[in-house]
Amino acid sequence: MLTKEENELLTRVEGDAPMGKMLRQYWVPAIRSEALVADGDPVRVRLFGENFVAFRGTDGKVAIFDERCPHRGASLLLARNEDCALTCIFHGWKFGNNGQTIDVPTEPADHREAFAKKVPLKSYPVKEAGTIVWVWLGEGEVPEFPALEFTTLPNSHVRSWVAYVQVNWLQGLEALIDTAHVGVLHKSHIPIVAEGDEFEDIAPRYDIDPQPYGFRAAALRKTKGGLEYVRVTEYIVPWHAYIPQPGPAQVCVMSAPVDDYNVAQWYISYNPYEPVTDQAVKSFESMIGSDPNNFYNPKGTFDNRWLQNRELMKHGHWSGVHGIPIEDFIVEESMGPIVDRTKEYLGSTDVAITRMRRMFLKSLDDFREGKPPFAQDKKIDYTQIRTKTFYMPGNADWRDKFREVVLR
Ligand code: FES
Ligand SMILES: [Fe+2]
Repeated sequence: MLTKEENELLTRVEGDAPMGKMLRQYWVPAIRSEALVADGDPVRVRLFGENFVAFRGTDGKVAIFDERCPHRGASLLLARNEDCALTCIFHGWKFGNNGQTIDVPTEPADHREAFAKKVPLKSYPVKEAGTIVWVWLGEGEVPEFPALEFTTLPNSHVRSWVAYVQVNWLQGLEALIDTAHVGVLHKSHIPIVAEGDEFEDIAPRYDIDPQPYGFRAAALRKTKGGLEYVRVTEYIVPWHAYIPQPGPAQVCVMSAPVDDYNVAQWYISYNPYEPVTDQAVKSFESMIGSDPNNFYNPKGTFDNRWLQNRELMKHGHWSGVHGIPIEDFIVEESMGPIVDRTKEYLGSTDVAITRMRRMFLKSLDDFREGKPPFAQDKKIDYTQIRTKTFYMPGNADWRDKFREVVLR
Protein backbone atom coordinates (compact mmCIF):
# COMPACT_ATOMS: atom_id res chain seq x y z
CA MET A 1 0.00 0.00 0.00
CA LEU A 2 1.17 3.50 -0.76
CA THR A 3 0.06 6.88 0.49
CA LYS A 4 -1.75 9.07 -2.00
CA GLU A 5 1.37 11.26 -2.23
CA GLU A 6 3.66 8.29 -2.89
CA ASN A 7 1.33 6.96 -5.56
CA GLU A 8 1.36 10.34 -7.28
CA LEU A 9 5.13 10.57 -6.95
CA LEU A 10 5.79 7.17 -8.52
CA THR A 11 3.26 7.37 -11.31
CA ARG A 12 3.35 10.93 -12.68
CA VAL A 13 5.89 11.41 -15.44
CA GLU A 14 4.78 14.46 -17.40
CA GLY A 15 6.28 17.95 -17.23
CA ASP A 16 8.27 18.66 -14.09
CA ALA A 17 7.00 15.63 -12.14
CA PRO A 18 10.06 14.33 -10.23
CA MET A 19 9.64 10.72 -11.42
CA GLY A 20 9.49 11.81 -15.05
CA LYS A 21 12.58 13.96 -14.57
CA MET A 22 14.49 11.09 -13.03
CA LEU A 23 13.33 8.53 -15.61
CA ARG A 24 14.40 10.82 -18.44
CA GLN A 25 17.97 10.31 -17.23
CA TYR A 26 17.82 6.71 -18.52
CA TRP A 27 18.01 5.55 -22.14
CA VAL A 28 14.45 4.81 -23.19
CA PRO A 29 13.19 2.57 -26.03
CA ALA A 30 11.56 4.88 -28.56
CA ILE A 31 10.57 2.96 -31.67
CA ARG A 32 11.30 -0.28 -33.51
CA SER A 33 14.14 0.14 -35.99
CA GLU A 34 12.06 -1.40 -38.79
CA ALA A 35 9.40 1.27 -38.38
CA LEU A 36 11.82 3.84 -39.82
CA VAL A 37 12.77 3.58 -43.48
CA ALA A 38 15.50 5.72 -45.10
CA ASP A 39 13.77 8.78 -46.63
CA GLY A 40 10.45 7.28 -45.45
CA ASP A 41 7.63 8.74 -43.38
CA PRO A 42 8.65 10.56 -40.21
CA VAL A 43 6.97 8.89 -37.22
CA ARG A 44 5.63 10.35 -34.00
CA VAL A 45 7.19 9.07 -30.79
CA ARG A 46 5.44 10.08 -27.60
CA LEU A 47 7.31 9.79 -24.30
CA PHE A 48 6.75 11.46 -20.92
CA GLY A 49 3.79 13.35 -22.32
CA GLU A 50 5.83 15.01 -25.08
CA ASN A 51 5.72 14.44 -28.81
CA PHE A 52 8.84 13.81 -30.82
CA VAL A 53 9.49 13.03 -34.45
CA ALA A 54 11.74 10.14 -35.46
CA PHE A 55 13.07 9.65 -38.98
CA ARG A 56 15.75 7.80 -40.86
CA GLY A 57 17.85 9.87 -43.22
CA THR A 58 19.09 8.96 -46.69
CA ASP A 59 22.30 7.59 -45.14
CA GLY A 60 20.36 5.31 -42.75
CA LYS A 61 21.11 7.37 -39.65
CA VAL A 62 18.16 7.90 -37.30
CA ALA A 63 17.43 11.22 -35.59
CA ILE A 64 14.82 12.26 -33.03
CA PHE A 65 13.71 15.90 -32.69
CA ASP A 66 10.90 17.68 -30.90
CA GLU A 67 7.87 17.25 -33.14
CA ARG A 68 7.17 20.97 -33.33
CA CYS A 69 9.28 22.89 -35.80
CA PRO A 70 11.53 25.31 -33.91
CA HIS A 71 10.37 28.14 -36.22
CA ARG A 72 6.63 28.43 -35.56
CA GLY A 73 5.60 25.01 -34.45
CA ALA A 74 4.31 23.20 -37.53
CA SER A 75 4.45 19.46 -37.04
CA LEU A 76 7.58 17.91 -38.49
CA LEU A 77 5.52 14.79 -39.15
CA LEU A 78 4.50 16.70 -42.27
CA ALA A 79 8.09 17.47 -43.23
CA ARG A 80 9.84 16.23 -46.35
CA ASN A 81 12.42 13.55 -45.57
CA GLU A 82 15.27 13.73 -48.07
CA ASP A 83 18.99 14.61 -48.28
CA CYS A 84 19.58 13.30 -44.74
CA ALA A 85 17.26 16.00 -43.41
CA LEU A 86 13.70 16.92 -42.54
CA THR A 87 12.47 20.01 -44.36
CA CYS A 88 9.48 21.71 -42.78
CA ILE A 89 6.81 22.20 -45.44
CA PHE A 90 5.67 25.53 -43.95
CA HIS A 91 8.72 27.74 -44.63
CA GLY A 92 11.28 25.22 -45.79
CA TRP A 93 13.60 25.27 -42.80
CA LYS A 94 15.80 22.21 -43.10
CA PHE A 95 17.10 20.11 -40.21
CA GLY A 96 19.81 17.50 -40.76
CA ASN A 97 19.84 14.10 -39.10
CA ASN A 98 23.15 15.18 -37.56
CA GLY A 99 21.11 17.55 -35.38
CA GLN A 100 22.13 20.72 -37.26
CA THR A 101 19.89 23.30 -38.89
CA ILE A 102 21.08 23.22 -42.49
CA ASP A 103 19.06 25.94 -44.14
CA VAL A 104 16.60 28.73 -43.34
CA PRO A 105 15.55 29.85 -46.83
CA THR A 106 13.21 32.56 -45.51
CA GLU A 107 16.18 34.56 -44.21
CA PRO A 108 18.25 36.95 -46.39
CA ALA A 109 21.15 35.09 -47.99
CA ASP A 110 23.84 37.18 -46.31
CA HIS A 111 23.02 36.10 -42.78
CA ARG A 112 21.33 32.76 -43.40
CA GLU A 113 24.23 30.68 -42.20
CA ALA A 114 24.73 32.63 -38.98
CA PHE A 115 20.98 32.54 -38.34
CA ALA A 116 20.78 28.76 -38.93
CA LYS A 117 23.46 28.15 -36.31
CA LYS A 118 21.29 29.81 -33.67
CA VAL A 119 18.01 27.97 -34.37
CA PRO A 120 17.16 26.12 -31.17
CA LEU A 121 16.49 22.74 -32.80
CA LYS A 122 15.85 20.15 -30.08
CA SER A 123 17.67 17.02 -31.18
CA TYR A 124 18.30 14.12 -28.80
CA PRO A 125 21.02 11.48 -28.52
CA VAL A 126 19.89 8.25 -30.18
CA LYS A 127 21.28 4.77 -30.35
CA GLU A 128 20.13 1.87 -32.50
CA ALA A 129 20.66 -1.53 -30.92
CA GLY A 130 18.81 -4.82 -30.59
CA THR A 131 16.27 -3.90 -33.33
CA ILE A 132 15.22 -0.80 -31.35
CA VAL A 133 15.94 2.92 -31.56
CA TRP A 134 16.70 4.29 -28.08
CA VAL A 135 16.70 7.91 -27.09
CA TRP A 136 18.07 9.89 -24.18
CA LEU A 137 15.92 12.81 -23.05
CA GLY A 138 17.76 13.72 -19.87
CA GLU A 139 19.73 16.69 -18.67
CA GLY A 140 23.48 16.94 -18.15
CA GLU A 141 25.91 14.23 -19.08
CA VAL A 142 24.68 11.36 -21.26
CA PRO A 143 25.07 8.12 -19.30
CA GLU A 144 26.60 4.94 -20.65
CA PHE A 145 24.14 2.91 -22.71
CA PRO A 146 23.10 -0.16 -20.67
CA ALA A 147 24.31 -2.90 -22.99
CA LEU A 148 21.75 -5.59 -22.22
CA GLU A 149 22.71 -8.76 -24.07
CA PHE A 150 20.20 -8.37 -26.90
CA THR A 151 21.56 -4.91 -27.72
CA THR A 152 24.93 -6.50 -28.48
CA LEU A 153 23.63 -9.19 -30.85
CA PRO A 154 23.03 -9.08 -34.61
CA ASN A 155 19.44 -8.19 -35.52
CA SER A 156 18.86 -11.74 -36.80
CA HIS A 157 19.08 -13.02 -33.20
CA VAL A 158 16.52 -10.57 -31.84
CA ARG A 159 12.81 -9.81 -32.35
CA SER A 160 10.95 -6.96 -30.80
CA TRP A 161 7.29 -6.07 -30.51
CA VAL A 162 5.61 -3.13 -28.86
CA ALA A 163 2.05 -2.52 -27.74
CA TYR A 164 0.45 0.68 -26.47
CA VAL A 165 -1.71 0.12 -23.42
CA GLN A 166 -3.95 2.66 -21.73
CA VAL A 167 -2.46 2.59 -18.28
CA ASN A 168 0.19 4.36 -16.32
CA TRP A 169 3.71 3.04 -16.80
CA LEU A 170 4.02 1.69 -13.24
CA GLN A 171 0.96 -0.52 -13.66
CA GLY A 172 2.61 -1.99 -16.74
CA LEU A 173 5.85 -2.57 -14.89
CA GLU A 174 4.14 -4.12 -11.89
CA ALA A 175 2.49 -6.72 -14.12
CA LEU A 176 5.87 -7.58 -15.60
CA ILE A 177 7.61 -8.27 -12.30
CA ASP A 178 4.64 -9.94 -10.59
CA THR A 179 5.42 -13.57 -11.24
CA ALA A 180 2.73 -14.91 -8.86
CA HIS A 181 0.04 -14.32 -11.49
CA VAL A 182 1.74 -16.46 -14.12
CA GLY A 183 0.30 -19.73 -12.84
CA VAL A 184 -3.15 -18.17 -12.53
CA LEU A 185 -3.91 -15.56 -15.19
CA HIS A 186 -1.87 -17.33 -17.87
CA LYS A 187 -2.63 -20.90 -16.85
CA SER A 188 -4.34 -21.75 -20.14
CA HIS A 189 -1.19 -20.74 -22.02
CA ILE A 190 1.62 -21.82 -19.73
CA PRO A 191 1.45 -25.23 -18.11
CA ILE A 192 4.13 -24.55 -15.54
CA VAL A 193 4.68 -27.92 -13.97
CA ALA A 194 6.92 -30.86 -14.83
CA GLU A 195 5.38 -33.64 -16.87
CA GLY A 196 3.09 -35.82 -14.74
CA ASP A 197 3.82 -33.81 -11.62
CA GLU A 198 1.65 -31.35 -9.68
CA PHE A 199 2.29 -28.40 -7.43
CA GLU A 200 1.82 -28.93 -3.76
CA ASP A 201 0.76 -25.36 -3.52
CA ILE A 202 0.21 -22.70 -6.19
CA ALA A 203 1.62 -19.98 -3.90
CA PRO A 204 5.30 -19.39 -4.53
CA ARG A 205 7.85 -18.64 -1.85
CA TYR A 206 9.96 -15.65 -2.81
CA ASP A 207 13.63 -14.90 -2.36
CA ILE A 208 14.84 -11.51 -3.44
CA ASP A 209 18.52 -10.73 -3.89
CA PRO A 210 19.48 -7.10 -4.44
CA GLN A 211 21.71 -6.45 -7.44
CA PRO A 212 23.60 -3.34 -8.53
CA TYR A 213 21.07 -2.96 -11.38
CA GLY A 214 17.90 -3.76 -9.41
CA PHE A 215 17.09 -7.17 -8.00
CA ARG A 216 16.84 -10.87 -8.77
CA ALA A 217 13.59 -12.45 -7.58
CA ALA A 218 13.24 -16.21 -7.35
CA ALA A 219 9.77 -17.70 -7.04
CA LEU A 220 9.91 -21.27 -5.74
CA ARG A 221 7.10 -23.80 -5.84
CA LYS A 222 7.30 -27.33 -4.47
CA THR A 223 5.91 -30.09 -6.63
CA LYS A 224 4.26 -33.22 -5.27
CA GLY A 225 7.04 -35.27 -6.86
CA GLY A 226 9.57 -33.68 -4.50
CA LEU A 227 11.09 -31.21 -6.95
CA GLU A 228 11.17 -27.47 -6.71
CA TYR A 229 10.13 -25.35 -9.68
CA VAL A 230 12.11 -22.11 -9.85
CA ARG A 231 11.31 -18.98 -11.83
CA VAL A 232 13.90 -16.26 -11.59
CA THR A 233 12.92 -12.78 -12.72
CA GLU A 234 15.58 -10.13 -13.15
CA TYR A 235 14.38 -6.59 -12.55
CA ILE A 236 16.59 -3.95 -14.08
CA VAL A 237 15.98 -0.34 -13.13
CA PRO A 238 13.99 1.46 -14.30
CA TRP A 239 11.66 -0.46 -16.64
CA HIS A 240 13.24 -3.72 -17.79
CA ALA A 241 12.51 -7.23 -16.59
CA TYR A 242 13.76 -10.59 -17.78
CA ILE A 243 10.93 -13.09 -17.78
CA PRO A 244 12.19 -16.65 -17.35
CA GLN A 245 11.65 -19.22 -20.09
CA PRO A 246 12.45 -22.90 -20.20
CA GLY A 247 14.66 -23.02 -23.36
CA PRO A 248 17.66 -20.99 -24.59
CA ALA A 249 15.43 -18.06 -25.62
CA GLN A 250 15.57 -15.00 -23.40
CA VAL A 251 12.65 -12.63 -23.03
CA CYS A 252 13.17 -9.05 -21.92
CA VAL A 253 10.16 -6.83 -21.37
CA MET A 254 10.02 -3.08 -20.84
CA SER A 255 7.44 -0.61 -19.69
CA ALA A 256 8.22 2.83 -21.13
CA PRO A 257 6.09 5.82 -20.08
CA VAL A 258 4.21 7.40 -22.99
CA ASP A 259 2.44 9.85 -20.68
CA ASP A 260 0.65 9.68 -17.33
CA TYR A 261 -2.06 7.40 -18.72
CA ASN A 262 -0.36 5.35 -21.43
CA VAL A 263 2.53 2.95 -21.57
CA ALA A 264 4.56 1.28 -24.30
CA GLN A 265 4.89 -2.40 -23.40
CA TRP A 266 7.90 -3.88 -25.15
CA TYR A 267 8.60 -7.58 -25.70
CA ILE A 268 12.01 -8.64 -26.86
CA SER A 269 12.77 -12.26 -27.58
CA TYR A 270 16.29 -13.28 -28.47
CA ASN A 271 18.51 -16.25 -28.85
CA PRO A 272 22.08 -15.56 -27.69
CA TYR A 273 23.52 -18.27 -29.93
CA GLU A 274 21.69 -18.29 -33.23
CA PRO A 275 19.11 -16.48 -35.35
CA VAL A 276 15.58 -16.48 -33.99
CA THR A 277 13.59 -19.12 -35.84
CA ASP A 278 10.37 -18.42 -37.71
CA GLN A 279 8.71 -20.97 -35.48
CA ALA A 280 9.62 -19.03 -32.33
CA VAL A 281 8.28 -15.85 -33.91
CA LYS A 282 5.09 -17.56 -35.04
CA SER A 283 4.43 -19.00 -31.61
CA PHE A 284 4.52 -15.51 -30.07
CA GLU A 285 2.67 -13.87 -32.93
CA SER A 286 -0.13 -16.43 -32.71
CA MET A 287 -1.06 -14.74 -29.42
CA ILE A 288 -1.07 -11.14 -30.57
CA GLY A 289 -2.25 -8.85 -33.31
CA SER A 290 -0.24 -8.76 -36.52
CA ASP A 291 1.43 -5.35 -36.22
CA PRO A 292 4.73 -5.55 -34.31
CA ASN A 293 4.71 -1.74 -34.00
CA ASN A 294 1.46 -1.85 -32.03
CA PHE A 295 0.24 -5.37 -31.48
CA TYR A 296 -2.55 -4.53 -29.01
CA ASN A 297 -4.80 -3.44 -31.79
CA PRO A 298 -7.70 -3.89 -32.34
CA LYS A 299 -8.46 -4.18 -28.70
CA GLY A 300 -11.38 -4.33 -26.37
CA THR A 301 -12.52 -1.74 -23.87
CA PHE A 302 -14.37 -1.68 -20.58
CA ASP A 303 -17.70 -1.43 -22.42
CA ASN A 304 -17.28 -4.74 -24.22
CA ARG A 305 -15.32 -6.33 -21.33
CA TRP A 306 -12.21 -6.42 -23.47
CA LEU A 307 -13.86 -9.02 -25.75
CA GLN A 308 -13.64 -11.64 -23.01
CA ASN A 309 -15.16 -14.88 -24.30
CA ARG A 310 -17.42 -16.41 -21.62
CA GLU A 311 -18.20 -19.40 -23.81
CA LEU A 312 -14.51 -20.25 -23.95
CA MET A 313 -14.33 -19.92 -20.17
CA LYS A 314 -17.13 -22.43 -19.73
CA HIS A 315 -15.14 -24.83 -21.88
CA GLY A 316 -11.99 -24.76 -19.81
CA HIS A 317 -10.17 -21.57 -20.80
CA TRP A 318 -9.25 -19.63 -17.68
CA SER A 319 -9.43 -15.99 -18.71
CA GLY A 320 -11.50 -16.14 -21.89
CA VAL A 321 -8.90 -13.97 -23.63
CA HIS A 322 -6.41 -15.15 -26.18
CA GLY A 323 -2.70 -14.44 -25.69
CA ILE A 324 -0.47 -13.97 -22.66
CA PRO A 325 0.35 -10.28 -23.19
CA ILE A 326 -3.28 -9.51 -23.97
CA GLU A 327 -4.35 -11.12 -20.68
CA ASP A 328 -1.88 -8.84 -18.92
CA PHE A 329 -3.09 -5.74 -20.73
CA ILE A 330 -6.75 -6.26 -19.99
CA VAL A 331 -6.26 -6.76 -16.27
CA GLU A 332 -3.99 -3.70 -16.20
CA GLU A 333 -6.56 -1.58 -18.03
CA SER A 334 -9.38 -2.93 -15.88
CA MET A 335 -7.73 -1.29 -12.83
CA GLY A 336 -8.23 2.15 -14.37
CA PRO A 337 -5.47 4.36 -15.78
CA ILE A 338 -3.77 4.97 -12.42
CA VAL A 339 -4.76 2.39 -9.85
CA ASP A 340 -5.47 3.71 -6.36
CA ARG A 341 -2.65 2.12 -4.40
CA THR A 342 -3.98 3.51 -1.11
CA LYS A 343 -6.73 0.91 -1.37
CA GLU A 344 -4.78 -2.23 -2.20
CA TYR A 345 -4.34 -5.14 0.19
CA LEU A 346 -1.01 -6.76 -0.60
CA GLY A 347 -0.10 -10.36 0.13
CA SER A 348 3.17 -12.19 0.53
CA THR A 349 3.65 -12.74 -3.20
CA ASP A 350 3.61 -9.00 -3.85
CA VAL A 351 7.02 -8.63 -2.27
CA ALA A 352 8.84 -7.92 -5.56
CA ILE A 353 6.46 -5.08 -6.28
CA THR A 354 6.91 -3.60 -2.83
CA ARG A 355 10.68 -3.85 -3.21
CA MET A 356 10.63 -2.08 -6.57
CA ARG A 357 8.48 0.77 -5.22
CA ARG A 358 10.75 1.23 -2.21
CA MET A 359 13.79 1.33 -4.48
CA PHE A 360 12.20 4.10 -6.53
CA LEU A 361 11.14 6.13 -3.50
CA LYS A 362 14.69 5.97 -2.14
CA SER A 363 16.18 6.69 -5.55
CA LEU A 364 13.89 9.71 -5.92
CA ASP A 365 15.03 11.07 -2.57
CA ASP A 366 18.65 10.71 -3.67
CA PHE A 367 17.94 12.21 -7.06
CA ARG A 368 16.29 15.24 -5.50
CA GLU A 369 19.42 15.72 -3.41
CA GLY A 370 21.43 15.86 -6.61
CA LYS A 371 22.82 12.31 -6.56
CA PRO A 372 22.92 10.34 -9.83
CA PRO A 373 20.02 7.98 -10.55
CA PHE A 374 20.26 4.39 -9.40
CA ALA A 375 21.99 1.73 -11.56
CA GLN A 376 23.94 4.04 -13.83
CA ASP A 377 27.26 2.81 -12.57
CA LYS A 378 29.70 2.16 -15.42
CA LYS A 379 30.93 -0.93 -13.59
CA ILE A 380 27.65 -2.82 -14.06
CA ASP A 381 28.01 -5.45 -16.77
CA TYR A 382 24.54 -5.52 -18.29
CA THR A 383 25.53 -8.07 -20.93
CA GLN A 384 25.71 -10.79 -18.27
CA ILE A 385 22.06 -10.60 -17.24
CA ARG A 386 19.95 -13.60 -18.26
CA THR A 387 17.37 -15.77 -16.64
CA LYS A 388 15.61 -19.13 -16.82
CA THR A 389 13.03 -21.43 -15.31
CA PHE A 390 14.29 -24.74 -13.99
CA TYR A 391 13.56 -27.64 -11.69
CA MET A 392 15.83 -28.77 -8.92
CA PRO A 393 15.76 -31.29 -6.08
CA GLY A 394 13.68 -29.99 -3.18
CA ASN A 395 16.65 -29.58 -0.85
CA ALA A 396 18.92 -27.69 -3.28
CA ASP A 397 19.75 -23.97 -3.11
CA TRP A 398 18.36 -22.10 -6.12
CA ARG A 399 21.33 -19.73 -6.10
CA ASP A 400 23.76 -22.58 -6.79
CA LYS A 401 21.58 -24.00 -9.50
CA PHE A 402 21.02 -20.56 -11.04
CA ARG A 403 24.78 -20.00 -11.17
CA GLU A 404 25.14 -23.34 -12.91
CA VAL A 405 22.38 -23.00 -15.51
CA VAL A 406 22.27 -19.27 -16.18
CA LEU A 407 25.30 -17.26 -15.17
CA ARG A 408 28.35 -17.27 -17.36
S1 FES B 1 7.08 26.46 -39.05
FE1 FES B 1 8.58 25.16 -39.84
S2 FES B 1 9.68 26.40 -41.21
FE2 FES B 1 8.22 27.72 -40.38
FE1 LIG C 1 1.60 -11.73 -17.25
